[in-house]
Amino acid sequence: MKVILENIKELVQVEEHARTWVAGEEMKELTVLKDAFLVINDDQIETFGLMKDFNEILVEGAEMVMEIDCAGKIVMPGYCDSHTHLVFPASREQEFVDRITGLSYEEIARRGGGILNSAQRMEQATEEELFLSAMSRLDEIKKHGTTAVEIKSGYGLTLESELKMLRVIKRLKESSPLMIKSTFLGAHALPAGYHNNRQKYIQLIIQEMLPEIDKEGLADYMDVFCDQGFFTVEETAQLLEAGMKYDLQPKIHANELGLTGGVQVGVQYGALSVDHLEHIGESEIEALLGTETMPTVLPGAAFFLKLPLSPVRQMMQAGLPLALASDYNPGSSPSGNMNFIQSLACINYQMTPEEAINACTINSAYAMGVEHSCGSICRGKLANLFITRELPTYSAIPYYFGSNPVETVIINGEIY
Ligand code: NIG
Ligand code: FE
Repeated sequence: MKVILENIKELVQVEEHARTWVAGEEMKELTVLKDAFLVINDDQIETFGLMKDFNEILVEGAEMVMEIDCAGKIVMPGYCDSHTHLVFPASREQEFVDRITGLSYEEIARRGGGILNSAQRMEQATEEELFLSAMSRLDEIKKHGTTAVEIKSGYGLTLESELKMLRVIKRLKESSPLMIKSTFLGAHALPAGYHNNRQKYIQLIIQEMLPEIDKEGLADYMDVFCDQGFFTVEETAQLLEAGMKYDLQPKIHANELGLTGGVQVGVQYGALSVDHLEHIGESEIEALLGTETMPTVLPGAAFFLKLPLSPVRQMMQAGLPLALASDYNPGSSPSGNMNFIQSLACINYQMTPEEAINACTINSAYAMGVEHSCGSICRGKLANLFITRELPTYSAIPYYFGSNPVETVIINGEIY
């Protein structure tokens, strides 16, 4: 079946040849075709071009053709949200209120709230409940234009509960049209009862969790929350080394709460991405330059927790690439709306719309290992994209903060 999108006002992020990522000055550039067409053949992008060059031959002989008139509308590659925790048992609005009335995120965590609160609820939750609530979150983010998403475990913190979360993610991969990658985050927080013996929990991860996860093929990547009050650089190194024996490339939580060496240890172990980065200095930038690790900023978490803003302009000026993700989770970013992430990027971080779009598509595709099939409008890539309502130009997407410009989503050539 062929689907033809016609009269597209702006076809955004087109590539003649697929790039791996864009960095530094290149992030300012975005290739946009005005008054364009796009041909989808089954699940792939077959071709695209300007309407004036549209040739009926392209669709001749096709058994079924569906035409969609995109006059006045923008077409973009679907967002790749490379960092989420969207399998969770319950919301945590009480902590939100506690922070309004004066407690900090770290204080709440020290009192057994935060991640440990979710872990306690996780123990009670059934796989079915977790699956159904996560499916509805996937549906919600799909409606906002996300077509690929990474999901982490890390609210289990016991062998049984971590496996439960990862099995749910596996089921989501089989049931949802979205492209999903799974990350094992057993080292998200030290569970209660291990404070006098941190190594005991680390050994539980290394000796019991990792072998079982490997046996069932439950994870694509491995994450550690390497930060003040969570896991140290030495513990992170120990954990990442153990994960690498099972071919789990790291994607780590780093430098959210302090200049703790998380970026450096991530780079040292060949992390695909280092994420959060609210605390970044010259030596972190230096450590990232020339590597294959994608620095990833999570504007939703910084907004929700009122954290310092990552120095993204300085990072791009130094020549680094940059990805953006939602961090969708119940504690620090209870939203997976990537349109809003773009607004935050533009308004709070002074990123241009072009930089924000590059960071939410091609670069975030790399940060979750799907850049060969997603992240741009390129011949042979998957037909994963969205069509907006009528808009003057793509800059109107971050401009209309809080509203959803997405009207139609196409994943693997299927229209939603
Ligand atoms: O990415 N920083 C660590 N983990 C999550 C938050 C987890 C939670 O509070 O539930 C994050 O912000
Ligand atoms: Fe996170």
